[in-house]
Order: sequence, then structure tokens, then C-alpha cells
Amino acid sequence: MLGYKMAHRSAVAAALLAIGFGFAGTASAQSAAATQEAPTVYQPTVGQRGKDVVWVPSPQALVDRMLEMAKATPADFLMDLGSGDGRTVITAAKRGINALGIEYNPDMVELSRRAAEKEGVSDKAKFEKADLFETDFSKAQVITMFLLPDINRRLRPKILDLKPGVRVVSNTFDMGDWTPDETADAGGDCTSYCRALLWIVPAKVEGRWKIADGEVSFEQKYQMLAGSVRAGSAVNSLTQGKINGENIVFTAGGVEYTVRINGGAMEGVAKGPGGQKPFKATRG
Ligand SMILES: C[S@@+](CC[C@H](N)C(=O)[O-])C[C@H]1O[C@@H](n2cnc3c(N)ncnc32)[C@H](O)[C@@H]1O
Repeated sequence: MLGYKMAHRSAVAAALLAIGFGFAGTASAQSAAATQEAPTVYQPTVGQRGKDVVWVPSPQALVDRMLEMAKATPADFLMDLGSGDGRTVITAAKRGINALGIEYNPDMVELSRRAAEKEGVSDKAKFEKADLFETDFSKAQVITMFLLPDINRRLRPKILDLKPGVRVVSNTFDMGDWTPDETADAGGDCTSYCRALLWIVPAKVEGRWKIADGEVSFEQKYQMLAGSVRAGSAVNSLTQGKINGENIVFTAGGVEYTVRINGGAMEGVAKGPGGQKPFKATRG
């Protein structure tokens, strides 16, 4: 985080330097025009200003790790929010995944498109010049991002409204009190921004569900579940309740429930001392 702030400061320094170079740039532009030199290719600078976040590229080892954590496959559509030089999108495309980078800086968008072309993946790696806060990412099954904690928190309500099971991977920064389902390090010789955090969008199950001889009452906080199961006259508190997309596991009264949400119903099995029985609940 400190490094990131320093990167932001160095972006300001870079901007000041750029102002200084502006004069030299004008002079060299004149001499370039005079000698008919080819225009220079856009070169981004690490720490350069972005609309809401500076540009710092994710280490390639972490990009690979993020895609592995998300279990991204060619069946997925991936979106990288704030795609920088396009490395995550291009890496995904090389794995056969259709991917779209959203990037506010038009020069970075052009740079990414050229890189995708050079890597031979421009059919799968697409880039759009847009503000991530105004972007519809509801079609993505995998979302990657390297932003900042406050931006992640601002995106959180929109992410939680995505289809259950969507995987979101962030380089380094968390989502406030929504604890990640998994964290992993890039390993190898990665030295900064080497940690990835994965969240799986949980189904919304808060409330009461009817069962044959009673009801299940869920209290949901993101992917974590508390509550109780009432079967006949026995009421047991729910423990170890966790949602993974549309799959839920919880224990109550020594019985372990493994169920899957299917619209307004959940179906699965209840495994207890007396053996395994089918389990079904409907929203009540
Ligand atoms: C830290 S860089 C991450 C780049 C890339 N995702 C990666 O991991 O290498 C953040 C990027 O977000 C872009 N950005 C900042 N604010 C944005 C916004 N509101 N909409 C779209 N892109 C934005 C910046 O220009 C920068 O390229």
C-alpha cells in the first residue's frame, strides 16, 4: 500500500518531469518535423496517472496465478477493470478465453490493441476505452482487477449483484469486510504486488426456507451463513455455513447439509448419524 502511494507520488513527479520535458519535447518535435522522422511509439511510465488509479502493471507471475485461482477456462468471458497495458486480457486470450479490458486512458487502449495484434490474439483480446464505474460487467464470469481498496469497496455492491458463481480476483487489495474465499502468492522471484485475493459471488439465501418438518432460517453475511434448523420440536444452531456460488454447506445438530440452489428451491443431501437422506427446502 505504501509502495502504491509512493507510486502515486512518483506519478506526480513523472507529471512534473513531463512538464519540464514539454519544452524539450517541443524542440525535438520541431527537429523531427524538419528531418521527417517517424512518430515515436507511445511509452507508458510505471506510476503514471490514471483516472482513479495510477498505472502499475501486475507482475506476470501474479497474472498467471490470478487466472489459475479463478479457474478461468475458454468457457468463460473475462473482464479486467482498468486493464493498463493489456497483459491480463492478453494472457487470458492466449489461454483461449474471450476477454475484454476496460481502460480509461486511450493511449493504453491503443497500446494494448497493438500488443494483442502482435501476440496474435486480437480475435479474443478486446479493449474498450471506458470508465470502469460506468461499465456493465454483468456478462463476465471472471473479473480481474488491480485497483485500490476504496475502489474495490465502491464496486462491491455491483459485484454482489452479479450471478452467483462469478469469480473476482484482485491483485493485492481487499474488499473491506468481505473476506476472500482464497488468497495466494505469485511465488518465484516476484517482489511487489505478489498476492492475489479471490471472491466467489454468493447466492442470496438470507431468510426462511421451508423443509418437510420445519424450517431453515439463514442469516447471511456475504458467503458466510449463520442461523438455525428447526425440525419438528428440535431447534439447532447452524454452524460452518458457507456459500460457494450456488452451492451451500452447513452443519446443524450433528447433521451435515450439502445443497445447491435452484431458483426458489435448494436441493441436496443431509448426512447425519442415521445415514444420508435427500434434503429439499423452498423459500418460505
Ligand atoms: C494499477 S493499474 C492495473 C493495470 C492492469 N490491470 C494490470 O494488472 O497490470 C490500474 C489501471 O486502471 C486504469 N484506470 C484508473 N481509473 C480508471 C477508471 N475509472 N476506469 C478505467 N480505467 C481506469 C489506469 O489507467 C491503470 O491503467
